[in-house]
Amino acid sequence: MTERFQTIIEPFRIHSVEDIALIDEAERDEALLRVHYNLFGLHADEVTIDLLTDSGTGSMSSSQWAGMMLGDESYAGSRSFYRFKGAVESLTGMPEVIPTHQGRAAEKILFTETVAAGSVVPNNTHFDTTRANVEYQGGEALDLVIAEGLDPESRHPFKGNMDVGRLGEVLDDPSSEVPLVMITITNNSGGGQPVSMANLRDVSTMCRERGVPFFLDACRFAENAWFVKMREPGYESHSPAAIAAEMFSLADGCTFSAKKDGLANIGGFLAMRDPELAERCRNLLILTEGFPTYGGLAGYDLEAIARGLEEVVKEPYLRYRIRSTEYLAEKISAAGVPIVQPPGGHAVYIDAKRLLAHVPPQQYPAQALAVEIYRTGGVRGVEIGSVMFGQPGPDGTESPAPMELVRLAIPRRTYTQSHIDYVAEVVIDTASRAKEIPGYRIVQQAPWLRHFTAHFEPM
Ligand code: F0G
Repeated sequence: MTERFQTIIEPFRIHSVEDIALIDEAERDEALLRVHYNLFGLHADEVTIDLLTDSGTGSMSSSQWAGMMLGDESYAGSRSFYRFKGAVESLTGMPEVIPTHQGRAAEKILFTETVAAGSVVPNNTHFDTTRANVEYQGGEALDLVIAEGLDPESRHPFKGNMDVGRLGEVLDDPSSEVPLVMITITNNSGGGQPVSMANLRDVSTMCRERGVPFFLDACRFAENAWFVKMREPGYESHSPAAIAAEMFSLADGCTFSAKKDGLANIGGFLAMRDPELAERCRNLLILTEGFPTYGGLAGYDLEAIARGLEEVVKEPYLRYRIRSTEYLAEKISAAGVPIVQPPGGHAVYIDAKRLLAHVPPQQYPAQALAVEIYRTGGVRGVEIGSVMFGQPGPDGTESPAPMELVRLAIPRRTYTQSHIDYVAEVVIDTASRAKEIPGYRIVQQAPWLRHFTAHFEPM
């Protein structure tokens, strides 16, 4: 009906509203001092537009809220679990469905059962919690994304693809013990970039030929499916749900954070085909998360996720979703702000290495830029660079991350076009003063996942 018109509208109207904090620059300066320039330390009321993450920050639909009232809170055998299991099974085709309180709990359980000291787990790019959970078991988290995936300017349509040549070398190296191969769709740490069906098929075949399980980190499977529909020849007329089903059919299992494409505020799952591995995972689940028919979630959460999984593959939603991210990317990039191209599904990634070329990676240019964007307009993004992924060397020096990015992640169905226009204005204003932005040093840090709590000081 609206196809004749250019404007892609939000395919929903607002049902309840939440006030936004409008604080001034002096208050933000004070807040920055208090939190030692770590944006994770801010109170949400000190943030005007919160693009820290798209995780758990989306708006649920009235149908999801109504579903929550039907939550069955039985400890064992809850009706809501079976509704949830049905939704996951019909999406993934995987019969073993293990609910968890969020994605990292699924990772923790999977890797505890599969990864040992000396194991190597290839992925296109591990997300921070995924990497940390592999390393916690003594394994090596190996990133094998294609070269284009590390070049912010490359316009490759599937920059999340795995380098299958290098994967083959690792799989065929008799000295490397590979308990499973993972692919993250979309590749969050690599710029929210999609993986093609052809690449998933190649990796799946390589794994099956060698008897190595292949798992998807499927947090943003629907956004990946939309990119396949838009960019991969042969999929133009397929529905996102059919594309998603084909992606999952290539895998032996998946971890999932329902806080992204589950359109829920909390939740996750581990799903797989192998009943024996599933049983071991369930035994551990009981120890850490809860009984297998709730796994750390309330019955009402299971209902919200079940409905979210059905809503997220609808075409009008995905068309609006990907377009709104692209809209922000187009605006700031037209003003000369360097970003990872093409824009990802859930976020726009600013290339701080280029914008703050005067700040070396050892002084965390992306952290510096994220702080300055907050100071300027109360917009909170997140550093994805050497604070998050720098590897400390034996001599105390650090090898920097391959990219220095500030991610502006867009919560699902939460902000309108005027919010995004405001964000663009703030980013463009900040970028116009790039040369004056100082680097930072870390003055306090934790042994892992340091970005959440580190203290910084401007140089
Ligand atoms: N895998 C990917 C690709 C993710 O992006 C995340 C979370 C997880 C796993 C872990 O899921 O948070 O439910 O435990 N990403 C969030 C983000 C936190 O901001 O990108 P979780």
